[in-house]
Amino acid sequence: MAEPAFLFVCLGNICRSPLAEAAFRAAAADAGVAVVADSAGTGGWHAGEQPDRRSIAVAAKHGIDITGQRARQVTREDFDRFDHILALDPQNLADLRRIAPKDARARLRLLLDAVPGWEGRAVDDPYYGGPEGFDRTWDEVRAAADRLVEDLVQTR
Ligand code: 4NP
Repeated sequence: MAEPAFLFVCLGNICRSPLAEAAFRAAAADAGVAVVADSAGTGGWHAGEQPDRRSIAVAAKHGIDITGQRARQVTREDFDRFDHILALDPQNLADLRRIAPKDARARLRLLLDAVPGWEGRAVDDPYYGGPEGFDRTWDEVRAAADRLVEDLVQTR
């Protein structure tokens, strides 16, 4: 069976979704589960750029190098290439719903819906705040990543 493919989507693909991708890869590796993971932004302003230096720093704090990631804008084709598309906040989810093909293969939902008790919540954009906002982002996306991987392990 092909590896399950997950796409994490925020607005710029430089702060939150790079961390969600990294946390998910780490959680899957910890559990010994093979996955495909990528991230993208609903906007394309930062396409080709490395993650924000504050995201790079938080990932490094957790032993993960995300400097090889490059931002890109989500495409309609992503809805057929991925099994799951996880939106980091409700606005991203609404924007994704707007461009989703009718016969999309991907299951589209809010990332924090994966965490019991956190349904409907946003991973707030830390872009305009201080570095502590990025620690919070990490904690939220790692909690969701652990749940997503738990679900994969249970259905394996
Ligand atoms: P992200 O954060 O969606 O978590 O990558 C943002 C980064 C840049 C901008 C917005 C959000 N921006 O408008 O440039």
